[in-house]
Amino acid sequence: MNFGFLILAAMMSTVGVARAQGPEALLQQYKCYICHANNETRTGPAYIDVAAKYRGNPRAVAIVAAVVIRGARSGGPWHMPPHPEISEADAKKMARYILSLKK
Ligand code: HEC
Repeated sequence: MNFGFLILAAMMSTVGVARAQGPEALLQQYKCYICHANNETRTGPAYIDVAAKYRGNPRAVAIVAAVVIRGARSGGPWHMPPHPEISEADAKKMARYILSLKK
């Protein structure tokens, strides 16, 4: 019997029920880290670079949240797939977190 797993499962279900998920959990849940990392460029840009690009832009959260939901294709070899299943509230939570990252 693997008690470590049971405890982990119990903790995860409590978090899911007891309060809204934090932005990092959302990024995991929606598998953003398959293509992105906070600190290094992968298939998609590093989130710290996204934050740097939008620093000082008052509409940054809205723009980034829209990219998350609608996707982006700015001409590189890869594109950012749309995520119509993500609510605007969740997209904004993730956008705020991404934009708060610093080198
Ligand atoms: C299949 C790979 C892939 C997945 C999965 C993915 N992305 Fe991306 N993402 C990309 C690529 C590639 C780009 C660059 C697109 C471009 O500008 O052409 C990008 C760009 C971005 C940008 C930069 C937008 C900008 O305006 O500069 C953000 C923010 C972002 N993704 C967030 C996310 C989030 C949040 C998720 C999870 C919901 C996610 N991505 C999932 C590949 C991915």
